Parts: sequence; C-alpha cells; structure tokens
Amino acid sequence: MVSAGVVSALDLLDRSPRNVSRWRTRLCIAIMSVVWVCDLPPAMGQLAQTVATQADELPKVNKEGWTSSAVCGECHQAIHAVWQHSLHAMSWSNGVFQARYRRSIERYGEEQARACLSCHAPTVRHGGDFGVKNAVTAEGVTCDFCHSVNAVDLSDSSDPFRLTVGGSKHGPLRHAQSPAHEVQDSQLHTRSEFCAPCHEYRNANGLTVLGTYSEWKASPYAKRGKQCQDCHMPLVEGRVVALGVKRDTPTSVNLHNISGSHDIERVRGAVELKLTGYEWFGDRAWVYVSVKNKGSGHCFPTGLPMRRAELVVTIRDGAKPVDERIIPFQAVMEDKSGRVLQEEHRVFIEAARVRSDTRIKPGETRKLEISFRDIKASRLTVDAVLSYEYETEALMIEQGQERFEPVQMKFLIASVQDTMKPL
Ligand code: HEC
Ligand code: HEC
Ligand code: HEC
Ligand code: HEC
Ligand code: HEC
Repeated sequence: MVSAGVVSALDLLDRSPRNVSRWRTRLCIAIMSVVWVCDLPPAMGQLAQTVATQADELPKVNKEGWTSSAVCGECHQAIHAVWQHSLHAMSWSNGVFQARYRRSIERYGEEQARACLSCHAPTVRHGGDFGVKNAVTAEGVTCDFCHSVNAVDLSDSSDPFRLTVGGSKHGPLRHAQSPAHEVQDSQLHTRSEFCAPCHEYRNANGLTVLGTYSEWKASPYAKRGKQCQDCHMPLVEGRVVALGVKRDTPTSVNLHNISGSHDIERVRGAVELKLTGYEWFGDRAWVYVSVKNKGSGHCFPTGLPMRRAELVVTIRDGAKPVDERIIPFQAVMEDKSGRVLQEEHRVFIEAARVRSDTRIKPGETRKLEISFRDIKASRLTVDAVLSYEYETEALMIEQGQERFEPVQMKFLIASVQDTMKPL
C-alpha cells in the first residue's frame, strides 16, 4: 500500500515557477494516495469473479434487496468502469472518511455516528446494516442506491429519499427495456433535487453545514435550468449496456465519475485570476486583483468548510520578497462556545454559527484592493498565486496495522505576475 503522500508546508513555501511542476506532481501523488488508502473488502472481489464465470447466463439482480455494483457492471460495463474510481464509490472505504468516522464513534458514540452512514454508505437507509456487515454497504454511494430512488422530499430532512429497492431501476432513458430488471423513467435523475439530500445538510443546531444545493439554487445557473448533472455528468461516448446484452442501446452515457476538487483541471477551469492594475505614490502602493468564479455552479469552494482557496500577493524587489498579503476564500464555522472547528466530524455535529464566509458566489467577480506601505524600491514585481487547500487526516492500514496520518493537499490553481514602477 502507498504510504502517506504528505506534503509538508515547508515544501510549499518556495513558490518559484521552477518548483511549481515538481510541487504539482507531489501534490497529485498526495491526493491519489489518500483516495486509495483502503482497499474494498475482499467479499466484493469474490463476487465479481463469481459473476464472470456465469457468462452464459445473464447476471441476476436481487429482487428482494440491494444488488452489488459488480452485478450491474456485468451489463453496464462502460458506466461501471468509470464509477468504480469515483469518490462516490469510495465514500465509505476511503481513508479520510474512515479516520473521521472512527473519531466520531470515539467522541459521540456509535448511535450518533450512524448519521454519517446515511450519506457515506446510504444503503443503510433500507435494511439498516449500520455495522457494515454486507459487502454492498461498503460500496458507498453505489449504483443500486442512486437507481432505486423514485422521489425525494426535501421538506423531510430526516429521511428525504423515497426508495423502491429490488427489481426496478429508475433512470433518465425513455423507453428503455431490460431483461434483468424493470425500468422506470425518472426525470428526477436529470435534476439537482436528486443530489440535494446528500449535498445539503443542516445539523441539529440548525446550521447549514453543507450548502451546495442551496448555493446552486440561488445562482443564475438554477434560473437558467442548468443542473448539477449538466456540469458533473456530461454525456460521453460509451454503450449503456454491453453489446452482448443488447444491440440497440444508446452509444453515449452520462459520465459517472462525478468529479469535484479531486479533478485539478476542473477546479482550474472554474476560476479566473487577474492583476487588473496598480497605483504607487511615494512609499505607498495599491495592487488590484480580481478573482472570478466563472465556472462553478455554487460557491467556490463548496462543500465542507475545510475546503479553502488562498490567494497570496507578494511584491518583490528583484528576487527579494518585500511584503506579502494572504487572502483566504473560505467559510469558517464555530461551535456554541465560539471555538473554530477544523475537523469534519466536529463540523457536522457541533457547528453552531458561521463566523465568516469569504467564498466566491457563482458568477461573482471579487475585486480586491491590496495596499502596501513603507516601500523603498524604485521598481518592483508583483505576483498573485491562487491555490486550493485541504487539511485532514487519513486512516492507513499496512500489514494489518492501523494508524492515523496527517494529510495536507494543496495545488496551484493560477498565478499571474507584473512589474510596477512609481508614478
Ligand atoms: C447518497 C448520497 C449522495 C448522492 C445521492 C450524491 N452524492 Fe455526491 N457525494 C456524496 C458523498 C458522501 C461524497 C463524499 C465522498 C468522499 O469524499 O468520501 C460525495 C462527493 C461528491 C463530489 C466530490 C467528488 C470529488 O472529486 O471531490 C461531487 C462533485 C459530487 N458528490 C456530486 C454529486 C452530484 C452531481 C450528485 C447528483 C447527480 C450527487 N453527488 C449525488 C454523497 C452523495
Ligand atoms: C443482464 C444485464 C443487466 C444487468 C445485470 C443490469 N442491467 Fe440495467 N439495464 C440493462 C438493459 C438491457 C437496459 C436497457 C438499456 C436500453 O434500453 O437501452 C438497462 C437499463 C438500466 C437503466 C436505465 C433506466 C432508465 O429508464 O433510464 C438503469 C438506471 C439501470 N439499468 C440500472 C441498473 C442497475 C443499478 C443494475 C444493478 C443493480 C443493473 N441495471 C443491472 C441490463 C442490465
Ligand atoms: C450518485 C448517484 C449515481 C450513482 C452512484 C450511479 N448513477 Fe447511474 N445515473 C445517475 C444519474 C443522476 C443519471 C442520469 C444523468 C442525467 O441524465 O443527467 C444516471 C444514468 C444512468 C443510466 C442511464 C444511461 C445514462 O448514462 O444516462 C444507467 C444505465 C446508469 N446510470 C447505470 C448506473 C450503474 C450501472 C452504476 C454503477 C456502476 C451507476 N449508474 C451509478 C446517478 C448515479
Ligand atoms: C456550472 C457548472 C456546475 C454546476 C451547475 C454545479 N457544479 Fe459542482 N462544481 C463545478 C466545478 C467547476 C467545481 C470545482 C470547483 C469548486 O470546487 O467549486 C465543482 C465542485 C463541486 C464539488 C466539490 C467539493 C469537493 O468535495 O471536492 C461538489 C461536491 C459539487 N461540485 C457538487 C455539486 C452539486 C450537488 C451541484 C448541484 C446542486 C453542482 N455541483 C452544480 C461545477 C458545477
Ligand atoms: C448529508 C450527507 C452527509 C452526512 C450526514 C455526512 N457527510 Fe461527510 N460528506 C458528504 C458530502 C456530500 C461530502 C463531499 C463534500 C465535500 O467534500 O466537501 C462529504 C465529505 C466528507 C469528508 C471528506 C472526504 C474526503 O474524501 O475528502 C469527510 C472526512 C466526511 N465527509 C466525514 C463525515 C463524517 C465523520 C460524518 C458524520 C459525523 C459525515 N461525513 C456525515 C455528505 C455527508
């Protein structure tokens, strides 16, 4: 197993362009190793083999309860191949979640920690396998969960999903027909409301901890009818079912890896950083920077408050840094006694107030005026570097030994540079 790809803060201090590509590579490794820390339980591997040896017979869907994604994947190969590397597929098994879930049990007891499973292992919502004894529960946000949803009731915050578990699968295709299961046409699957029960969360203190859906709902995208799926699940080439199962089936599928901040290029495409000008009189200068959320359908960043972006504006005299300003884009949440919360499980359960929220709204251009004083140079360079950051811990399992490892992720989104002369 990969050991923790922890990138120390010191490595990141040298932000010279020469170092950026090395820095990027190491950060990608860090992210990948976090995602891959835990293997799926062995039972799943066995299941996949059993199915493969019955190639002459169509794989069977469980009419009484949940079916493993390995069974769905026998026929829906193109979709399964992509889904299995998604964070949804690892929402239970990944080391970052595992670490915080353990912390939740230690801190609040098993009963209260069950709340985590309703989104990270959502098949517990039917059958109540809170001990995660069945392999299918460990598949996290699995095919059968999403395609057993027949309605959502967002006014019922404790139990918003309406499920039909068993032989009937709900999806966006009209007139689909399958020998393996009944097919229900569901336009809900093409709409943001489908994602909302897991991507919007108000805790027992009445605080909205995850607000991705409501951020989208208040955005110009919602008014224009652009749904979560339109950005996160674009149509790509691929057969809905394997050729051997059905010939006349659509040859494009909705991309099922559903990526967010783990897709660095997606994040880079979402924001635009500009140095729009400067003024410099005597020993005082102002630098104007704009940061636009041009492609994210919700706040940038969205999701848990630990996800933050940071802008560092530095003026230099030659190679020597003269002064620096750091501007975070982040929601900061605190508990009832006013203590800032920095761990996911504590935010979910204990957050009571938003102390500050400097995230950039969808479509918003944030204009920043950054002032510097006591400048003695006659010519300066200024650079603005925007990066994405996330700090947490992961549970690592190596040769049967478990340990918690700190994890820091940081990657460069954009950087711009200019020269300055006094007026
Ligand atoms: C049953 C609950 C559930 C549903 C339904 C659901 N999600 Fe998620 N989603 C999660 C959880 C849990 C995670 C976090 C996984 C992790 O990192 O452990 C997640 C993570 C994500 C991520 C982040 C991935 C990354 O690369 O960082 C995106 C993007 C996302 N979901 C989009 C969607 C969209 C779009 C929909 C609707 C089509 C949707 N989700 C439906 C539970 C759900
Ligand atoms: C024996 C092969 C087979 C298996 C196993 C199978 N399916 Fe299907 N599925 C099909 C076929 C065939 C279609 C119809 C495709 C078409 O008409 O173009 C289909 C259609 C679908 C649709 C589209 C429904 C719609 O109206 O949009 C969904 C969703 C779906 N399956 C989900 C699943 C899930 C989830 C599983 C596992 C629990 C699964 N399938 C297992 C063969 C299979
Ligand atoms: C997070 C929920 C989620 C998970 C997990 C998920 N799907 Fe889907 N699936 C969707 C949504 C939403 C759509 C429709 C997207 C749209 O039309 O905009 C869809 C569409 C489909 C379709 C119709 C063809 C298409 O691509 O539009 C099939 C078949 C399907 N999914 C099968 C699967 C299988 C098999 C798996 C597991 C390997 C799976 N899905 C996992 C949410 C999910
Ligand atoms: C206009 C396109 C667009 C729409 C619409 C959109 N998103 Fe996103 N989403 C993005 C981009 C780009 C990112 C990466 C930048 C960021 O983190 O904001 C992202 C990031 C995310 C993340 C990342 C957080 C993480 O853990 O990595 C989640 C979760 C997410 N989106 C869920 C949703 C949900 C749920 C909806 C619908 C309510 C939605 N998105 C609508 C473009 C979109
Ligand atoms: C309402 C659904 C929901 C509940 C309840 C929930 N989560 Fe999550 N969780 C999500 C979604 C959606 C994301 C992805 C958004 C993001 O990454 O910012 C996520 C992300 C995470 C992450 C980051 C994962 C990663 O891979 O980076 C951790 C850790 C986490 N949750 C732990 C917990 C714990 C512990 C609990 C219980 C105390 C919990 N969650 C309860 C929906 C939920």
